[in-house]
Amino acid sequence: MAKIAIIGGTGLTALAGLQISGQEDLDTPYGRPSGPVSRGVFAGKEVLFLPRHGYSHTIPPHKINYRANLWALRELGVQQVIAVAAVGGIGAAMGPGVLAIPDQIIDYTWSRVATYFEEGLSKVVHIDFSLPYCEDLRQLLLAAGQAAGLSLVAGGTYGATQGPRLETAAEIARMERDGCHLVGMTGMPEAALARELELCYAACALSVNWAAGKTADLITMADIERELQTGMERVRQLLAQTLRMI
Ligand code: HPA
Repeated sequence: MAKIAIIGGTGLTALAGLQISGQEDLDTPYGRPSGPVSRGVFAGKEVLFLPRHGYSHTIPPHKINYRANLWALRELGVQQVIAVAAVGGIGAAMGPGVLAIPDQIIDYTWSRVATYFEEGLSKVVHIDFSLPYCEDLRQLLLAAGQAAGLSLVAGGTYGATQGPRLETAAEIARMERDGCHLVGMTGMPEAALARELELCYAACALSVNWAAGKTADLITMADIERELQTGMERVRQLLAQTLRMI
């Protein structure tokens, strides 16, 4: 049974090179995931794949059933999750095209169902989330990047915003003062729910634009699409090398 899953983000609704052998259409106690989970072989390894926005990229960040997605993966025996995310760059080192393996998170999202621990509890549960990403998997991604000759930024704080709109320049300035290097809309509650399920979860973030106010230009979808096209090929190479090294 496959033990590793890839959650695809914007620009990765299909994983080129994944030889799909089947799909698992699961229901969970929390509702349905973003779509059936694809089972297959990628870079010679058995893997599961789920695009968090759905296969047709129709589910906006605040409507994703994060609980169902992670529950379904765990039901299928997954222990490790690599989450792929398109992000905006805030820090000077995080311009468009940069691939980063973040090591911290600040959560600015609101009104999302963010825990499995809310009903029918015999006691209140507080998970430790000091280090929100699985360090072993982070190090593996970084080593794979090096082996594949890909330049990666090792670390960075991911600020998770509510979306679906992009941020104001003032919001990004505040996030920068808070210490955020990257901004995206899906990193939370995904990472926290993975921790609650005791999954080893790490993210691979592709910067596809300078965040609002970081340049004089407005952010256009055309610019984002262009970065996604070129950047996701490098993400694919990173994923392939990571799986080879597992
Ligand atoms: N902000 C939030 N999420 C994003 C961005 C951004 O600038 N770019 C890609 N995802």
